[in-house]
Amino acid sequence: MFDAARFRERLATHRLGQHLVVRATTESTNDDAWIALGTMGDGVAVIAFEQTRGRGRAGRGWHLAPGQGLALSVAVRLGCDVRQAGVIPLAAGLATLRAAHALGVQAARLKWPNDVLVHGRKLAGVLCEVRHTPRGDAAVIGIGMNVLQTREDFPPELRDTATSLALEGSDAQLADAAAGVLSALEPLWVESQEGDRAALLAAWSAQAPHWGTWLRVRTPAGEVEGIAQRLDADGALVLRLASGAETTVLAGDVVAGTPGGEQP
Ligand code: BTN
Repeated sequence: MFDAARFRERLATHRLGQHLVVRATTESTNDDAWIALGTMGDGVAVIAFEQTRGRGRAGRGWHLAPGQGLALSVAVRLGCDVRQAGVIPLAAGLATLRAAHALGVQAARLKWPNDVLVHGRKLAGVLCEVRHTPRGDAAVIGIGMNVLQTREDFPPELRDTATSLALEGSDAQLADAAAGVLSALEPLWVESQEGDRAALLAAWSAQAPHWGTWLRVRTPAGEVEGIAQRLDADGALVLRLASGAETTVLAGDVVAGTPGGEQP
């Protein structure tokens, strides 16, 4: 199911994924990656064909049709202050988007903070976790990407809102997707830790259709809506409210928005 030789051929990294753990089934590759960080070290990646308790953002689950989607987690030690870790999920989303483009899905775009959508349907999502460990701060970047699914492989409630590389015309295999994501992530990871975060945020912004459009965002503190202005230096979303004031949204989900920016 996972062609390890094909993965190695396509992997263009020095660090991320050089150690790879492949599991038939697991609860969550993010949990496995935390353990593997301790035993195998920085850059270790874990993939699984099946997750029994796959986690999504905001306490949601993540559906993975066994063997059809990529469940990939990579563990990395932080090279920056943990307070600057907010750009990591954006770097991961951008890497996933670049991998989708390289695998032939040019129409893929970003939705803040790190969803990858194709014509409004979700192709991939990212769940980043940052923790203090005895050996310093570290992150696990978990990426779920739909690769081989047909429409029927998704549960009925996801059929209208999800898509896969295959449904978008790509013939990518799981190994191509895994190698593509890790290869795109490594330079962005370095940039997020020690490089030009402004360039990273500009590259992210260029791939999102939000700017100047009306969005409603669900945050832990409730819903907020306004016209999307820009990302701030930490990767937070800046909205202009109806009052004309600007507000900064640190975490949340875009739950409504219109491509043209007009309020519904
Ligand atoms: C989201 O869009 O809500 C994020 C989904 C992240 C899912 C991936 S699959 C690999 C890794 N392991 C998990 O349990 N979750 C992430």
